[in-house]
Amino acid sequence: MYVCICYSVKEKDIKQSVAQGAHSMRDLYTELELGRQCGKCCQTAKQILNEELAKL
Ligand code: FES
Repeated sequence: MYVCICYSVKEKDIKQSVAQGAHSMRDLYTELELGRQCGKCCQTAKQILNEELAKL
């Protein structure tokens, strides 16, 4: 499922980034560039980030 349409970032991309050490939205902005255009994906991306961090 695409989370960020503007930068073609999928849910699995976010999960992979967290597995590789990303632990904040800033990390995701840097690694995946999501949220840098319209910002509509930020809420969903943060939810996925928090879910993945809770699993660690
Ligand atoms: Fe992510 Fe637009 S959907 S910046």
